[in-house]
Amino acid sequence: MMELKNKKILIIVGGGISAYKSLDLIRLLIKNNVEIKTILTKSGKEFVTPLSLTSLTKNKIFEDIFDNNSEAEIDHIALSRWADLIIVLPTTANFMSKLSLGKAEDLATTVILASNKEVLLVPAMNVRMWLHKATQKNLQTLMDYGYQFIGPEKGEMACGEFGEGKMSSPRQIFTYLKNYFDKKDYVKYKKFKALVTSGPTREYLDPVRYISNESSGKQGYEVALALNRLGIKTTLITGPTIQNVNSKELNIKRITTANEMMNEVQKTLPVDVAVCAAAVSDFKPKHKSKNKIKKNVNDSKVIQLEENSDILSYLGKNNKNRPKVVVGFSAETENVIKNSKIKLKEKYCDLIVANDVSEKNQGFNSDYNKVSIIDKKGRVKSIFKNKKSFIANKVAKIILDKLLVNDKNFN
Ligand SMILES: Cc1cc2nc3c(=O)[nH]c(=O)nc-3n(C[C@H](O)[C@H](O)[C@H](O)COP(=O)(O)O)c2cc1C
Repeated sequence: MMELKNKKILIIVGGGISAYKSLDLIRLLIKNNVEIKTILTKSGKEFVTPLSLTSLTKNKIFEDIFDNNSEAEIDHIALSRWADLIIVLPTTANFMSKLSLGKAEDLATTVILASNKEVLLVPAMNVRMWLHKATQKNLQTLMDYGYQFIGPEKGEMACGEFGEGKMSSPRQIFTYLKNYFDKKDYVKYKKFKALVTSGPTREYLDPVRYISNESSGKQGYEVALALNRLGIKTTLITGPTIQNVNSKELNIKRITTANEMMNEVQKTLPVDVAVCAAAVSDFKPKHKSKNKIKKNVNDSKVIQLEENSDILSYLGKNNKNRPKVVVGFSAETENVIKNSKIKLKEKYCDLIVANDVSEKNQGFNSDYNKVSIIDKKGRVKSIFKNKKSFIANKVAKIILDKLLVNDKNFN
């Protein structure tokens, strides 16, 4: 097991009633030899004193962006570069609102906007504040921007009301952080690799006509980005899509036909994870005409088809180079769970992500999706309709958990 030892965490203490709990978390982290720097927001100062924070962290507290001494010592950019992780607790409704607008109006928001590190938000507020449409909209925006959330929990609040909005306990946050660094260090050390297929394929009848489908490639692209963010080196093999597939971090291979996709998949092996999110055409025309087919009323109108190789089952069955985790996507219009469970078995997958493409405004060609993730034991985890980027993060985390459990050296 890796340790928290020598990790550097920047804690931003916001202006909520739960701010006092930041002191307990800091104590726990210091005991585990974590180095801590803190920023106290203007309102945060109303709830905990700079003196309590300095006494615990043995470090200077940063408060003001226009403090000449602070900037001389360590500027707002250096502060975010110094940290391995930034955590905001409590994250107030106001703070969420500022972050979702991309504000940089004080030291805390400026450091976050300038940061190249993971930012963990720990919301704490009254249940009505949390459930307010504005806060929920900000939550969605922040998740899309890639911020991570711990909580909030359901429970009794300081104001005496009951509901969702209670801050996760320092112990829960501590456990999250420990897992986070364990996994991150391990993944970095192992140098895991993944391949993701996405988009449609085109199967040509002649030089200008083809059989294809409605896949936009968005979901696969988002999964590839999410795996990459977790530290897994990812190759994206994509069919022709309307989606702007562009990322310096991903190794992107562009293909057109199912045959070409299969060839790229074989070239990319071995990998630890394979995610097949592409809508590969099951069939291709048996004969491709060299020239554009002319309209001839007397000709037969029948197109003869033959089967394409099945990339997903090739990966699932592959004895020599089988990825540790093979994930399929299934697009169904009826009996979604039942049919997907059959597909999982038939294609020898470890996980299948099932989506109902019969519903409007989700699935094919949409920014939204609603999926159920099914494992080999038949367990189903449903994710309600959400942005494809959000679903991709969830899927990537489940894949990573599976990968780490499968890895014998990891305990
Ligand atoms: C006694 C008191 C308790 C408060 N508790 C919370 C809280 O738990 N959550 C929250 O979102 N806002 C809370 N507020 C409102 C925030 O303090 C206010 O929105 C502030 O501007 C947030 O500052 P920040 O953006 O630096 O976190 C509270 C205000 C008072 C006066």
